[in-house]
Amino acid sequence: MYMDSVIGHRGVAALAPENTLAGIQKAADLGLKWIELDVTLLGDGSAVLFHDPKMDRTTSGQGHLKKKSLDQVGELDAGSWFSEAFKEEKVPTLIEALMLIKQLKLGLNLELKPNRCDLKLLVEKVVAALEAASFPEEQLLVSSFNHKALVLYRARAASRIGCLFESLPRNWKHKARQVGATTIHVNAKKLKEEKAGEVSKAGYELYCYTVNDKALASQLKSWGVCGVFTDNPGVLE
Ligand code: G3P
Ligand code: MG
Repeated sequence: MYMDSVIGHRGVAALAPENTLAGIQKAADLGLKWIELDVTLLGDGSAVLFHDPKMDRTTSGQGHLKKKSLDQVGELDAGSWFSEAFKEEKVPTLIEALMLIKQLKLGLNLELKPNRCDLKLLVEKVVAALEAASFPEEQLLVSSFNHKALVLYRARAASRIGCLFESLPRNWKHKARQVGATTIHVNAKKLKEEKAGEVSKAGYELYCYTVNDKALASQLKSWGVCGVFTDNPGVLE
């Protein structure tokens, strides 16, 4: 299997603020082997872990990331929205996160989240950070809903690629081939048993997000799904 059967979503999003160093540490403390994190660019081109296009939901700041510099974002509290216990959390730069993940020996599914930033620049920044961190290829899988970003990434690096879909379109195999995918990632709620079978038959590993329910995880497993992204691994035990 390329990843693990349980992958921490945005770190472990139910137990620590998403896309933070505390979340990465929490995943390791829980014994997870793989985590998923989102990477995007600020207005000054800095690569940071972040899910949304705007600061509002997960930090003390406001407005679009495109309008922010790393200095401005560095001032923000990225933990209090989740719980007072995490008030020291900052928005991590990609390189900070990679260094911690490497130290903890975790596997990383890095999701490219362009959020309307320059795709080429995002890819360049991600490749540069992975190289600077000497991040091990066997511990990495890069994915995105933005398949253009994946094509650009593939031209620059040899990492395994996960092709992300909301639901599997009829031409999913064509799209997977276009991006050179090794794995297919889909929304668990949109998956049908027949489609899951198609993916396995075509020789791809299938992973589903976001699964916080034990019965659903078992059903997906019985359909041949290799692993699930979860906010809370405890509920799947
Ligand atoms: O990569 C799986 C999952 O994270 C995709 O959805 O919105 O949580 O990034 P989202
Ligand atoms: Mg994600």
